[in-house]
Amino acid sequence: MKSLPKASFKTTKKIWLNGRMTDWRNANVHVLSHALHYGSGVFEGIRFYKTKNGPAIFRLREHVARLIYSAKVLEMKIPFSKTEIENAIIKTVAANKIPAGYIRPLAFFDYGKMGLNPVGAPVSLAIACWPWDSYLGGKPIRVKTSRFIRLHPDSVVGDAKVCGHYVNSILASLEIKRAKYDEALFLDHRGFVAEGPGENIFFLKKGVLHTPKLGSILAGITRLSVIAIAKDLGVKTREGNYRLKDFYSADEVFFTGTAAEVQPIGSLDDKKINGGKAGEFTQKLREMFLAAVAGENPKYKKWLTFVK
Ligand SMILES: Cc1ncc(COP(=O)(O)O)c(C=O)c1O
Repeated sequence: MKSLPKASFKTTKKIWLNGRMTDWRNANVHVLSHALHYGSGVFEGIRFYKTKNGPAIFRLREHVARLIYSAKVLEMKIPFSKTEIENAIIKTVAANKIPAGYIRPLAFFDYGKMGLNPVGAPVSLAIACWPWDSYLGGKPIRVKTSRFIRLHPDSVVGDAKVCGHYVNSILASLEIKRAKYDEALFLDHRGFVAEGPGENIFFLKKGVLHTPKLGSILAGITRLSVIAIAKDLGVKTREGNYRLKDFYSADEVFFTGTAAEVQPIGSLDDKKINGGKAGEFTQKLREMFLAAVAGENPKYKKWLTFVK
């Protein structure tokens, strides 16, 4: 095996691949693997955080349940049970001996069959993890509505994390990086605000939190966690269909996601939100979220799986 080119992110030592802890550089696939051609894989993004009791994985059960749901959508039979996958994820974090980072489980139709119908191709499961700092930095960011719309719910099963779906997110990300913004925002096919390329979106207006309802968005696990924290802070969340003008005139706007965590938005389509500063409530939510994931709030310990 020739040596790997240098990655632009910090790599770790081991990747769990089909039941074996493999050296990072040897976790490879054949170029005729089905998923490489057609996006016929499903994945998760999970974070683990440093706590007083060692690394803790945030909402492991929910992420693995969503992975299995996504696989079902593709009629993919992952050759490991839910418990086996959870244990493999814990093992991967433990093997790499890093205190905090991002976990990427990926199940995919592997080498052995071509043609669009993947059923019959062997299914592989890989689990990698690596250190990954805040995805969008945590400071208020500049967001622009993409010219691409979110995938039509009748074209795909939009609440599944299928690899191929992410071409939609890639196109929007390329577009807004060219225009020198920090992140994109998708509208759905009806013109309602949907979500970011890898984040759900919220706005606060007159003390009520609002977020697009399920249908054209991924059912984010951070989204649910933030709704629960807001409720505990005495703030109600309404899920509905919203236009851009609802966001432009909001008191505060922020993204949520495993990678982005709770990310304030300073401007949307060049219209400043809260004078371009992170809103008070957004900051409070962000602090509460970061305390929850760090195991500092007993109320949310149920969300953590500790890795010994
Ligand atoms: C399209 C999309 N929306 C929203 C999210 C946020 O979901 P979660 O909070 O489960 O990471 C993600 C990330 O997984 C995503 O890819």
